[in-house]
Amino acid sequence: MRRRTPMCDGAPVDNFLDLNRASWDDRAAAHADSPDYAFEQYVSDPSFLSDVVRFDLPLLGDIGGLRGVHLQCHIGTDTLSLARLGATMSGLDFSGESLAQARRLAQLTDTPIHYVQSEVYKATEVLPAGEFDFVFTGVGALCWLPSIERWAEVVSALLAPGGRLFIREGHPMLWAIDEARTDGVIVGYPYFETTEPLVDEDDGTYVATDARFTKNVTASWNHGIGETVTALLRHGLRVTGLVEHDSVPWEAMPGQMTKISSSEWQLTDKPERLAHTYTLQATKDSA
Ligand SMILES: C[S@@+](CC[C@H](N)C(=O)[O-])C[C@H]1O[C@@H](n2cnc3c(N)ncnc32)[C@H](O)[C@@H]1O
Repeated sequence: MRRRTPMCDGAPVDNFLDLNRASWDDRAAAHADSPDYAFEQYVSDPSFLSDVVRFDLPLLGDIGGLRGVHLQCHIGTDTLSLARLGATMSGLDFSGESLAQARRLAQLTDTPIHYVQSEVYKATEVLPAGEFDFVFTGVGALCWLPSIERWAEVVSALLAPGGRLFIREGHPMLWAIDEARTDGVIVGYPYFETTEPLVDEDDGTYVATDARFTKNVTASWNHGIGETVTALLRHGLRVTGLVEHDSVPWEAMPGQMTKISSSEWQLTDKPERLAHTYTLQATKDSA
């Protein structure tokens, strides 16, 4: 069961980050056990890639031999997939339990991946600045960060000159839709970044599992496309691609979506009304 409310009690943002970390820690083991994250397939098939990375492939191109860092890597399935495409990977997440599962998967598949535990905004305290050929971020990451400006600063600091950001993310227009309203596509939440987060209480998760959770309150923030692009430009990145997609890799609006492939969902009625996800690429200036 999920409840969502705008939170305006002025509680410090750090408290919200602690709530978020506890929620991810609580769910990590169940995610690793879920058939939806497919740990066993990575072990039995050395060429197996995550749905997210498989979707990304046409825009991602050849990453063989590149040094990459995956921000908010969770339990490492996308990180491992990028390593399988030939990149030398680091993964960062603030959830120790998520990283324990990510390290276990790397070990089970005999894949060298450097995992570090840190908040995104402190990434350069635990990873070398200016040394990555690409920064990767997967779906469902930016909404946990209060400031897109500070995120762009970190991305820029991590990239080597000429290095590339690659991100596929839920579209801010999709995040603004009230998913509980089944009578149409209703914009119920902020499109733009707000100081105060939205606070959700949800005792479930987004993968199939019988597990029960106790850390169920989370805080999230939306970030408009213009805000994200502008933040990157301000921190010395040149946008080289922005593709908006008409599908999303989970049933974002339950009851109103149709599964259109093995991993992607789309609004059943007139899907052309809504950008569901986007892929943004940007390159750090060489000078
Ligand atoms: C939805 S998951 C990442 C999505 C990824 N595509 C996946 O499914 O594996 C979001 C991750 O962000 C991490 N996270 C959230 N806020 C963070 C922060 N401020 N710093 C670092 N990691 C954070 C969580 O611990 C979680 O592992």
